[in-house]
Amino acid sequence: MTARIEKTVVSGVFSLDGQDFDVDNNVWLVGDDAEVLVIDAPHRAGPIVQAIGGRRVTAIVLTHGHNDHITAAVDLRAATGAPVWFHPADTMLWDVVHGEVHPEARPDEALAEGTRFRVAGTSLTTLHTPGHSPGSSCLHAPDLAAVFTGDTLFCGGPGATGRSYSDHPTIVRSIRAKLLTLHGDTVVHTGHGEDTTIGAELGTVR
Ligand SMILES: [Fe+2]
Repeated sequence: MTARIEKTVVSGVFSLDGQDFDVDNNVWLVGDDAEVLVIDAPHRAGPIVQAIGGRRVTAIVLTHGHNDHITAAVDLRAATGAPVWFHPADTMLWDVVHGEVHPEARPDEALAEGTRFRVAGTSLTTLHTPGHSPGSSCLHAPDLAAVFTGDTLFCGGPGATGRSYSDHPTIVRSIRAKLLTLHGDTVVHTGHGEDTTIGAELGTVR
């Protein structure tokens, strides 16, 4: 069976630097009727478990450490038995979210540039794209002509860099080097909001 991409939106609160924001987060499932890989674990595990629908979960990959992308990771791991992949450069953000609630809970595996996942006969390769946060990472699925960018690249340009641990020149460098070099028709599946394409964002990154 051919791998396909499914989207679930989970709403909640993003908190950083003492401020709270209501946000809608995209969760991406890549797989088929038998198995899926899950990209991001926002807010609550329930809606994500429902979207998985009893399929085997091969991995839970977190694009970065902001709470609105990782709050449900520990519960989702407990519900599915799948390992949590997380870039160690965002460990300080993991600790903010999980330190008090689950002090014993750590990610299972260290995400890094080039980490490759196979699911449902297709492959995804990790691109380390620091800037929105030091550990921000994207997943490129060449067979599906898709890239999953978390909060690094949105429809309309780069992700926010105004808060702690973010850096604008770094995110622009990452996007230019790792994302804008992909084929222009590559569909960009973002952490919030609508899809875009690499070609459509060529002029928005500055
Ligand atoms: Fe973020």
